Amino acid sequence: MEHKKIDIVLGLQWGDEGKGKIVDAVTPNYDVVARFQGGPNAGHSLEFNGIRHVLHIIPSGIFHKEKINVIGNGVVIDPITFKEEIDALEAMGLTPTANLFISKKAHLILPTHKLLDAAYESRKGDQKIGSTLKGIGPTYTDKTARTGLRVCDLLSDTFNDKYQKAKAQHIELLDQLHFDHSTMLPDLDQKWLASLATLRKFTFIDSEYELYDYIQGGKSVLAEGAQGTMLDLEFGAYPFVTSSNTIAAGAFTGLGLDPHFAGKVLGIVKGYCTRVGSGPFPTELFDATGEQLRKQGNEYGATTGRPRRCGWLDLVALKYALMINGVTDIALTKADVMSNFETIQICTAYKVNGELTTKMPTASDVDIEPVYTPLKGWMQDVSQCKTYEELPQAFKDYIQFIEQETRTKISIVSLGPDRDATIFR
Ligand code: GDP
Ligand code: IMO
Ligand code: MG
Repeated sequence: MEHKKIDIVLGLQWGDEGKGKIVDAVTPNYDVVARFQGGPNAGHSLEFNGIRHVLHIIPSGIFHKEKINVIGNGVVIDPITFKEEIDALEAMGLTPTANLFISKKAHLILPTHKLLDAAYESRKGDQKIGSTLKGIGPTYTDKTARTGLRVCDLLSDTFNDKYQKAKAQHIELLDQLHFDHSTMLPDLDQKWLASLATLRKFTFIDSEYELYDYIQGGKSVLAEGAQGTMLDLEFGAYPFVTSSNTIAAGAFTGLGLDPHFAGKVLGIVKGYCTRVGSGPFPTELFDATGEQLRKQGNEYGATTGRPRRCGWLDLVALKYALMINGVTDIALTKADVMSNFETIQICTAYKVNGELTTKMPTASDVDIEPVYTPLKGWMQDVSQCKTYEELPQAFKDYIQFIEQETRTKISIVSLGPDRDATIFR
C-alpha cells in the first residue's frame, strides 16, 4: 500500500470489522504502529502459523519484532490487562519492552473505574449501553473532569497519594450508588498494584515528539483505531456509543499528530454488519439468516464472548462513515463467510416515519426500516482464492456494487482470519 507518512486504519461499522487482522497484514509496509484511542474494551484478533492471538491494548503490529509499537495518549490502560497481554507475548518468546513504547499522557483505568462502570450500567434498566465493563466510560469521565491518573504519575513520588485519593472519591460514589464493592475491591486493588511492576518495565514517551521525530527521520506510521465509527462518542447513535473518538480525527488528538502528515485512511468494512451491546442496528436480522451469519462468521465477542447481533451490510451507515473519516480505501473482510447465500441483501436507503432517506437519523429512538437491493450470492467457498481474478463473478459483482455505491476503492479483500488470506488489489 502506498502511503504518505501517516496512514490510518479504522473500523467503519460497530467494531469487530477485522482491524487486528488487517493491521497485522499491512504492518510490513510501515515502521511504526500506534494505537490512538480506546482500551481493553477492544479485542483485536489476528492469526498466523495456525495460532490465533487477541490483543486488547497493545497495537496489532507487535508480532513484527522489528517494528516500533506505540500506545498513544488517547488510549486508556488497565495495568492488569496490560500485564496479561505482556505475559502472553513473552511466553511466545517476544521481548515487547524492546519495541513497545507508552505515552506518558495515557490515562490509567483504576479498579474502581471498573466497579463504577458496573454500578452505572446496573442502574440503567432497559437503557443499558451493553458496556464491556472494562472501566472505559468512568476513566474517560475522569479524564475530562481533570481528575484522572496518567502513566506519567507512575514516575512521581506522590503516585500512591494520588491513587488513594482517586480511590476514596470513587468509593464515595459507589456508596452513593449503593454498589457493594466490599467483596471485589480488595482483591482487584491488590492485583492492580502488583501489575504496575510490568508497566514500569516499559519506556514512557511523549508520543507527539517521538512520532514527529520518526516522521522527520523518514519513517512511516500506521495509526490503529479501536471500536468503529458507529460507536464514536460524537457520531454514533448516542448514548449507545463508547467514550472516545473512534474516527480519523481521533488519530490526531490521540497521538499528537500534525494532520498535514495524513496519507491514506483505510476503512475496514465487514461484508455484513455486527454489533455487540445495545443501540440501533437498522439491518439487524432476528431470523435464521442472522443465526447463519453468526454461526458461519463465528460472531462471538473477542473481549466478552457475547454473541454478536448480525445483519446485512448497511450502505447508509457506511457512506456516513466514509464521509466523516475521509476514507481513501476500503478493506473488505469476512465476505467469505457468506459462501452459501443464494441472495445477499444490501441496505441502500432507510424509511424513517414512512419517508425515504439516505441520511443517518440523529435520534437513537426512531423507527428505521431498511430498504434493500438484492444481489446474487456466489454459492461457493472463496477462502482459498489467492488473487482477485480467481474470485467468482458474483463476488466481483458484489465488490463492484459496493465500490460504485460508495465511490471508494476496495483495495484489500480479506478471505479468512489468517494474515495470508488477504488479497491486495
Ligand atoms: P477487530 O476488533 O476489528 O480487530 O475484529 P475482531 O478480532 O474482534 O473480530 C473479527 C473476527 O473475524 C476475528 O475472529 C478474526 O480472526 C476474524 N476475521 C478477520 N478477518 C476475517 C476474514 O476476512 N474472514 C473470516 N472468515 N474471518 C475473519
Ligand atoms: P473492537 O476494537 C465491538 C461496544 C460495547 C458497547 C459500547 C460501549 O474490538 O472493535 P464500552 O465498554 O466502550 O463502554 O462499551 O461499545 N464496544 C465494542 N463493540 N467492538 C469493540 O472493540 C467494542 N468496544 C466497545 O459492546 O455496546
Ligand atoms: Mg474486536
